[in-house]
Amino acid sequence: MKLLLATSILTGVSGSETFRDALSNISGKTTTKYVGAAVNEGFFDDAHYKETSSDYYNLVTAENSCKFSAVQKTQGTFDFASCDQVAQFAEDNDMAFRGHNTCWGVYNPSWLDNGNFTSSDFVGILENHVTTVLDHYQGKAVAWDIVNEAISDSAPYDFKANTWNNITADADGINTNYIDVAFRAARKADPNAKLFYNDYNVASSQGWSQGKSDAMYNMVKSMLDRGVPIDGVGLQMHVGTGYDLVDGVIANMERYGALGLEVHITELDLVCSQKNGYDCVWSDDMEQQQGELYATLLKACLDTDACTNFETWGFTDAHSWLEDGTHPLPFDENYNQKKAVGSMLDILTGY
Ligand code: G3I
Repeated sequence: MKLLLATSILTGVSGSETFRDALSNISGKTTTKYVGAAVNEGFFDDAHYKETSSDYYNLVTAENSCKFSAVQKTQGTFDFASCDQVAQFAEDNDMAFRGHNTCWGVYNPSWLDNGNFTSSDFVGILENHVTTVLDHYQGKAVAWDIVNEAISDSAPYDFKANTWNNITADADGINTNYIDVAFRAARKADPNAKLFYNDYNVASSQGWSQGKSDAMYNMVKSMLDRGVPIDGVGLQMHVGTGYDLVDGVIANMERYGALGLEVHITELDLVCSQKNGYDCVWSDDMEQQQGELYATLLKACLDTDACTNFETWGFTDAHSWLEDGTHPLPFDENYNQKKAVGSMLDILTGY
């Protein structure tokens, strides 16, 4: 709390509330339970990093340390040390822990990508991984991204070609795909964990993302029709300060809600994108525009029953996967509040 007061004085923005406090004060008015952020345990020795994240957020996701390559770097040997640090950080600070992810087509260990495996070998590897991870975090994770980024970026939006796509049949020889295998194994391992499919360029069902967004909706609907267990979808939202498809995001969240699914905004960041992409001049106006967009998206989540988690991919510009100079997150490089923090607090406190 000391840090909170210090940053408030530095920025002149009222720091009497944090996102998590303000959200808890309106819990009867919205179904949104979490305002979250991805964190990286590699920065836990920085007190500012730990205090800002635990003061402001009530959910964390490990940015990298729960991924396949971190957990099963060597075939058959599971190492949860780094992922556990994030889960423990969450527990110590009364935050929810969101798991990311058990199955992704890229950034996998070389033994997996380069091994000489049959379809049935891959089924065994995938089932073993999903089962072991979900089992380890039983009762500790509120949700898991079971499969991440499976859908191609252009029509006809097939599954991306990747290692896992070598799966053509389940253990009994019945035709299937790796997504079904992963979700079925996850439900069996932990019947209480919420199981999510997570992807990018799928947040709005209108505008430039309509094609991939519709493809994901149809994929998820067909999973439900086939009885494949899934509880929600993650809309990543790596977009920019000029993003103008908020109505389409609401419409999309509502159609998932109509299927009985939850929606998590999982990886939001807003790069400075005044003139497309990374060619940006950062200014007070741009910071204002970014803050307003963060607030508008937060309000969209609060207003939409299906949306239960509003989460950014990191929280400080000091540590983002995006290039320096893109200023994507609510806190600046020195952990001072940017205008986004005040705008989001205004939405929460005025709700
Ligand atoms: O920690 C090592 C370091 O020891 C080494 O010297 C250095 C050399 O490259 O690499 C460091 O690891 C990097 C790691 O980030 C930590 O910074 C990896 O190379 C790099 O591949 C890894 O990138 C991550 C990426 O996913 C791949 O796992 C990003 O941090 C992370 O933000 C990004 O997150 C993804 C989501 O999982 C899925 N959606 C998109 C999102 C952004 O790409």
